Amino acid sequence: MKTIYLDNGATTKICPAAEAAIKEANEKFFANPASIHHAGIEASKRLERARKTIANTLGASPEEIIFTSGGTESNNLAIKGLSFQNPSKKHIIASKIEHDCVLNSCKWLEERGYEITFLDVDKEGFVNLQQLQNAIRPDTLLVSIIHGNNEIGTLQNLQKIYEICKKKKAIFHTDACQSFTKAPLSAKMADMITINAHKMHGPKGIGALYIRKGIQLTPLAHGGGHQQGIRSGTQNVAAAAGFEAAIKEAQKQKKQIKNMQNLRDYFIKSALKIPNSTLNGAEGNSRLANNINISFAGVEGESVAALLDMEGICCSTGSACASKSLDPSHVIMAISNNSHERAHGSIRFTLSASNTKKEIDFTLRALAQAVKKLRKISPLKR
Ligand SMILES: Cc1ncc(COP(=O)(O)O)c(C=O)c1O
Repeated sequence: MKTIYLDNGATTKICPAAEAAIKEANEKFFANPASIHHAGIEASKRLERARKTIANTLGASPEEIIFTSGGTESNNLAIKGLSFQNPSKKHIIASKIEHDCVLNSCKWLEERGYEITFLDVDKEGFVNLQQLQNAIRPDTLLVSIIHGNNEIGTLQNLQKIYEICKKKKAIFHTDACQSFTKAPLSAKMADMITINAHKMHGPKGIGALYIRKGIQLTPLAHGGGHQQGIRSGTQNVAAAAGFEAAIKEAQKQKKQIKNMQNLRDYFIKSALKIPNSTLNGAEGNSRLANNINISFAGVEGESVAALLDMEGICCSTGSACASKSLDPSHVIMAISNNSHERAHGSIRFTLSASNTKKEIDFTLRALAQAVKKLRKISPLKR
C-alpha cells in the first residue's frame, strides 16, 4: 500500500540537502565547537555559519539566536526564562489557542503565583486586538501569541499585535514553529520568536529562539555557560547544519508555497462538498499554506483518521502531541463556542510541497466514503 503523507504539521520528511549537510558536519566537524584546538575552531565556524543563516533569514544578528532542542524548549525558555528574570512583574497574556508547550508553561507559572490571562479568539481563530490592548496592565511582563496555529492554520497579524505590545511596554513572544519559511516572518514582528527545524524538512531535535538584544533571560539549564550562558550544553553542529540546509532549500522553493496554497484551497473546496462539514480556521493568506482542518458533523475525527489510515493516508486530529488524548481539541473548542461535536468531528490534513493532486483526489474520495460509512452507523446520526 502506498503511503500518502498528509501530516506535515506533525513533522516532515527530512530533505536530501539537510541529510547531506548533517552527514558532512558529522564527518568534518565532529569536534566540540567549544574546544580550543583547530578541529574545535572549525566546528565552531560551521556552527556559527548556521546561526548566521538563521539570523539573516529573520533579519536578526547572530548573537540574538540561541539554538535549543526544538519548539518546546524555545517556548519554555522564552516564557519561564523571562519570568524568572523579572520577578516583579507577574502577569502574562497568551491566547486560548496556544500550543500545549506554551499553555502548560503558563499554567505551571500560574500554580506558582503568576496571573495568566488567556485571550479569546473569534470564530476564525483571530485574537481580538482591542481585548489584547485592554488586557495589558502595568505589571504585564509578556504577551505570547502563536503565529500560525498548528491545528487550524490561522495566521495572526503579528505586526499589529507587536505594535500594541510596544505601545503598552509588554514584551511580545511568538511561537512560529508552523509558519517559519511558510509565511512572512521577521525580527521586526516580535521581541522573541520560537522556530524549529522538523516542521520544515530539517532534522528533529533542534530549534532556535530569537531573543531581541537587550532582553535578559534566566537560563533553564545551568552548565558550562554555552551560548552566552543562556543555554548550556555541547552544541549540535550537525543538527544546526541540517537546520540551515533546510532553510536554504525552503528559500529556493518559494513558488512551491503558492502551489501548496492552490492544492490546499482545492482540497478545502472539494471536502466542503461533503454535507454538514465546516472549515476550521481562516482562509486565503491568513491561513498556513499547508493546513486543512474540517469538522464533519455526526462523526468522530479519530474514526475518520483510522479509516483513512487503512487506505494508506496519514492525517491527524488535534495536534500531534495531544492526538492520543481523547479530550476535545482546546483550539476547536475556542473557535466554536465550546462545541464538543465540532471538536470531536475535526480532522487535520497538512501538506508538503511534494504532495500531488492525484494524492489529494484519492484522499478526497476516501474521505467522502469514510464520512458516509461512519454517519450510517453513528449514534449521533441526525
Ligand atoms: C506550534 C508549535 N509549537 C511548538 C511545537 C513543539 O515543537 P518541538 O516538537 O520541536 O518541541 C510544535 C510541534 O508540535 C508546534 O506545532
